[in-house]
Amino acid sequence: MENASRIFIAYSKRAFLTKFNTLHKNCIRKPTKARKVQNLVGEEKNEMVVTPWEVRGKVDYERLIREFGTQPLTMELIQKLAKYTGGLHLQLRRGLFFSHRDLDVVLDLYEKGIKFVLYTGRGPSGPVHLGHLVPWIFTKHLQDHFKTRLYFQMTDDEKFLVKDELELKEATNYAYENALDLIALGFEPENTFIIYDVQDIDLLYDLALEVAKRITYSTARATFGFQESTNIGWVFWPAIQAAPCFIHAKLTGENVPALIPAAIDQDPYWRITRDVAPKLGYYKPAQIHCRLLPGLGVGGKMSTSEPETCIFTIDPPDVVKRKVWNAFTGGKPTVAEQRKMGGDPGICTIFQYFLFMFEEDDGKLAERERRCKAGEILCGECKTELAERINSFLENHKRKREKARNVIDKFHIKR
Ligand code: TRP
Repeated sequence: MENASRIFIAYSKRAFLTKFNTLHKNCIRKPTKARKVQNLVGEEKNEMVVTPWEVRGKVDYERLIREFGTQPLTMELIQKLAKYTGGLHLQLRRGLFFSHRDLDVVLDLYEKGIKFVLYTGRGPSGPVHLGHLVPWIFTKHLQDHFKTRLYFQMTDDEKFLVKDELELKEATNYAYENALDLIALGFEPENTFIIYDVQDIDLLYDLALEVAKRITYSTARATFGFQESTNIGWVFWPAIQAAPCFIHAKLTGENVPALIPAAIDQDPYWRITRDVAPKLGYYKPAQIHCRLLPGLGVGGKMSTSEPETCIFTIDPPDVVKRKVWNAFTGGKPTVAEQRKMGGDPGICTIFQYFLFMFEEDDGKLAERERRCKAGEILCGECKTELAERINSFLENHKRKREKARNVIDKFHIKR
């Protein structure tokens, strides 16, 4: 990744911007006939719903920036970040991270010598899939360059409350299993602190109470859309996701802001946390938001409840192959048509996987895109290559994941 970043930064600014914009556009999935049909069948309307617990319809990221009231991640800000990270990470160059809150503030403070801590997390309701790894990989990149601590929250309590069928024991067990995936990415125990909510609630409870007391039911309902039938655990719970924003200050006495790399669907939590933070004497938590990563289904849907649309890190090679082979692409129905008219990488889930994780070389990615559109390459070729790349990544990941069992205790937050 680092190599690609360096090569990329060597481009002239104009070439850079053009490339950035095209790649950025490719991440924004255009509506297609196929998707429209699916939407008519699968959903009443293609209405966008994005909450921390539900994502439905075609996600319009620009609309989310407007409606959530976040800031677009500008080129200027990206370059400011790149000053510290020695180049642009693939996920920044390709627009996977696209929005933020107060990233500029955090960088300005950093310039003045005030550090920050990183905070992110995972709702352990099942095994980890490739989409989950993407923001964690970026978090590691930030941690390596800024030499900061990471607080990582495993919300077994949240998943237990919001998933009717999930037992508490199962969620707690997934929290442990999911932590292995995090550790496998190369985080170090010296500066990575995992908080398992159920086990570590004593560390969070006082902070959560301070937060909860300052949020009215009416604000929470407007933010999260609670219904009459919502259980009461769920109503209090957002205060627990807010707590780790301030845990560093509480444990060390060092009052620094938290920067949260996470998918945009988590933003409602930070909105309420940001309102409360100054009242408690803390910095407002800053965020850098990424897109919701596409799955292999029609319209790029990925969902743990539809296991064929996502690749889990524990999937064996033949399962990965099968899922990739069944993926929705931008290909034409026949070889002849594809040769003549070319494919559409803009709607292809396979291309998306190359884009966000499995082709680090920007030149090669652009060439793949060109060849697809020109009908020079068929879907089978891309699928074979992608399945191979995923499997070689996973072979390595699984090895590190197993090794992580020996050191997992070292990552548990200390009292
Ligand atoms: N609620 C998140 C989920 O369901 C888990 C989480 C807790 C989280 N704290 C976070 C995610 C901070 C991102 C950043 O996945």
